[in-house]
Amino acid sequence: MIGAGYVGLVSGACFADFGHSVVCVDTDARKIEALRAGRMPIYEPGLEELVRRTTAAGDLAFSTELGPAVAGAEAVFIAVGTPARRGDGHADLSYVYAAAREIAAHLTGFTVVVTKSTVPVGAGDEVERIIRAARPDADFAVVSNPEFLREGAAIGDFKRPDRIVIGADDPRARDAMALIYRPLTLNQAPLMVTSRRSSELIKYAANAFLAMKITFINEMADLCEAVGADVQEVARGVGMDKRIGGKFLHAGPGYGGSCFPKDTLALIKTAQDHGAPARLVETTAAVNDQRKRAMARKIVKACGGDVRGKTIALLGLAFKPNTDDMRDAPSIAIVTALQDQGARVRAHDPVAMEHAKQTLADVVYCETPYRCAEGADALAIVTEWDAYRALDLERLGRAMRERRLIDLRNIYRPHEARAAGFAYSSVGRPG
Ligand code: NAD
Ligand code: UGA
Repeated sequence: MIGAGYVGLVSGACFADFGHSVVCVDTDARKIEALRAGRMPIYEPGLEELVRRTTAAGDLAFSTELGPAVAGAEAVFIAVGTPARRGDGHADLSYVYAAAREIAAHLTGFTVVVTKSTVPVGAGDEVERIIRAARPDADFAVVSNPEFLREGAAIGDFKRPDRIVIGADDPRARDAMALIYRPLTLNQAPLMVTSRRSSELIKYAANAFLAMKITFINEMADLCEAVGADVQEVARGVGMDKRIGGKFLHAGPGYGGSCFPKDTLALIKTAQDHGAPARLVETTAAVNDQRKRAMARKIVKACGGDVRGKTIALLGLAFKPNTDDMRDAPSIAIVTALQDQGARVRAHDPVAMEHAKQTLADVVYCETPYRCAEGADALAIVTEWDAYRALDLERLGRAMRERRLIDLRNIYRPHEARAAGFAYSSVGRPG
């Protein structure tokens, strides 16, 4: 497994848990050293225990040396990052291609080279070209196997996937992949074999569709506010139609994270390059971008239209609960916009504060939600951590200068908040 990040580490540990023999390789020596010592580089529920168990059983190992790991492998998974390229939004494939070059040098016997990283259509062809050019003698096949896990629920998603997609043209590679995933298919997980290009596009199409679904309900939330309807009721009523489905219809401050923002951009670029523009996705990305700053305006409006010199408390900084990942978190745009307008910002997050400190300066980081509320003129819930779902509103209110609650995740009932003396606003629910 080349790359021991969210995907490489979780996939590697889960494959090891199935009894496969896995080596996770990463160029980041500190990460590998920490993993060897049993320290996780990311916060992901259940991961530490899984890594401990599989390493103790001898099924999972960590290394900075790609050569020996590849030489002994039947399959090599590329799970390195594919961030948005600066300037144009295309996926930056330099890490994938660098990994391919390194892998080429060490191939022995028939090896399946699997791109698990999210890569644009055609990247598999380039990986194949790179390896073939470096090693005309090598016996290998390049397969696409996109990963659909979510952060915060990664192990469960990996072990109980809605589907496994294998994009492979070579029958030997298909057989090898079927064997690798046998523990899951035995458990009834559907395995779908497609062409490599279809498989690459399935990943982007799925993420873009989910991003679009979220953006759609966010626009409906704005309309609900304008017409006096309740977006949670609307989402439920719409989602009960089985053709639509109720998931990913939670209105909020806009999607963030390491994937939807960059993957929608990359799909837009691929579609433009091929003369088949993805206009719905273009609009989704633009609407979502605007939404994050619109949430800051919502907070300002709740404060009477001016936050200069006011103290705003934010609960939740990670882009979603159960992760410490701050990549493209809505909190970043919200904090920056509030600070631009002269507000002082205090913040709390159960696990993401250390990462947040690297991105967000001039924020007072607090140890508990109640400390965070101290002296605040308004408190906004930005991430729906479970720890925020049953706060003592009376205690929170006592700590604050003004009782204003802006609930960007709709986790409180308006009447409860108002009963505790709060001026309460939320997303897409009657004011
Ligand atoms: P990450 O940044 O957490 O981890 C990538 C790792 O690869 C880093 O530790 C880096 O040091 C390492 N690396 C880079 N080049 C290397 C090389 N040549 N050899 C060895 N290691 C190398 O990234 P991630 O979040 O795990 O994402 C990886 C890929 O999976 C991306 O394409 C992403 O879009 C996709 N993906 C991510 C998720 C998710 O939830 N994070 C879910 C599905 C798919
Ligand atoms: C997402 C996809 O759900 C995974 O299937 C995919 O593998 C992954 O991207 C990827 O390609 O990396 P992830 O980004 O970890 O997973 O988290 P999600 O649960 O999808 O949430 C993404 C963002 O959408 C978060 O900011 C979340 O708050 C927001 N969201 C999600 C909503 O605002 N409303 C919803 O109903 C659902």
